[in-house]
Amino acid sequence: MAAGRGTPLISVTDLEVHFPTDEGLVRAVDGVSFDIFPGRTLGVVGESGCGKSTVGRAILQILDRPGRIVNGSIELRLDPETDPDDAVDLASLGPNSGPMRAVRWADISLIFQEPMTSFSPVHTIGNQMIEAIRSHRGYSKREAREWAVELLSMVGISNPRQRIDEFSHQLSGGIRQRAMIAMAISCEPKLLIADEPTTALDVTTQAQILDLLRELQESQGMAIMLITHDLGVIAEMADEVLVMYLGRGVEFGPSDDMFHNPKHPYTTSLLTSIPSIYTKRGERMQPIAGSIPHPFNRPPGCTFNPRCPSFMPGVCDHDPPLFLPLEGPHLVRCFLYHDAQGNPVTAEAENDG
Ligand SMILES: Nc1ncnc2c1ncn2[C@@H]1O[C@H](COP(=O)(O)OP(=O)(O)OP(=O)(O)O)[C@@H](O)[C@H]1O
Ligand SMILES: [Mg+2]
Repeated sequence: MAAGRGTPLISVTDLEVHFPTDEGLVRAVDGVSFDIFPGRTLGVVGESGCGKSTVGRAILQILDRPGRIVNGSIELRLDPETDPDDAVDLASLGPNSGPMRAVRWADISLIFQEPMTSFSPVHTIGNQMIEAIRSHRGYSKREAREWAVELLSMVGISNPRQRIDEFSHQLSGGIRQRAMIAMAISCEPKLLIADEPTTALDVTTQAQILDLLRELQESQGMAIMLITHDLGVIAEMADEVLVMYLGRGVEFGPSDDMFHNPKHPYTTSLLTSIPSIYTKRGERMQPIAGSIPHPFNRPPGCTFNPRCPSFMPGVCDHDPPLFLPLEGPHLVRCFLYHDAQGNPVTAEAENDG
């Protein structure tokens, strides 16, 4: 699924992740496709439970039990510009295999959604950073410690030589998140997956952390997958955007297109439900009508149909829509644009029918 911008660093195609539970099968990720390009930021957005974190964890094969990848591919190209055909399918690697372990931290690293669980409480920040650095680089203990101090200073932590010997609970939320980012970039990954990196922080610290990510991206040239339910953050940071609903991508495209010319009714609803730079002063936020269906009780056809303002009876509640290109790199999964076979719906065709 190439969408311009050269060869993707990573191409996720038709990814499905299931959690078989006693109560039933949770299709946490139900066919998601997207590309992330070198040095660029993909924003992943959608309401709680739509599978954003699960996609991030699936890429690194660190899914919580009993989650597993049941379909799809995750192609990683380590040198997309000079060797675009040299790709490894991460989905085909065993979670504990040597090649998969080599990818974690070194090629792809993750900033977790839960700030308190990111660091172990029983080891100092320094010991955890040094261990991560040493397991991927041939550094001596002293060299790894020096590099860890440099990283802490790089992410704006004052007194890094003292802070490195502290435990995570001794740090404020903002400093802990900076330390987490320092650890995540310690092996200069090609892709940083940042799962709600600023949600637990106050607004000022949030802005500082986003600035820091942008600076690091510029200096290190890494790609970022930024997972958030905050469209304001996406508008500020993302080059491309993937909108997810109930485990599926419903819209993917360049950030500007998505904000100025959203196509999927769910994207439009999200944009009007969240206060953002695009909300006019005094304009009221519209909550998205209806609630998210229960995971074991998905509606037939398009899963957004019970909440959709453009619902077409007999069409939207019948077959599932396909995820297809609209214009250039913009993809959408909606019967307003394609019929069930994937043929474009035009105004003319509509009039004929
Ligand atoms: N260990 C698990 N066992 C069973 N179901 C799970 C497990 N982890 C996640 N899920 C289910 O997978 C779906 C997707 O969850 P996920 O955490 O990926 O959503 P999210 O988009 O990251 O949500 P949030 O915005 O709240 O972080 C949800 O229905 C969730 O209940
Ligand atoms: Mg999440």
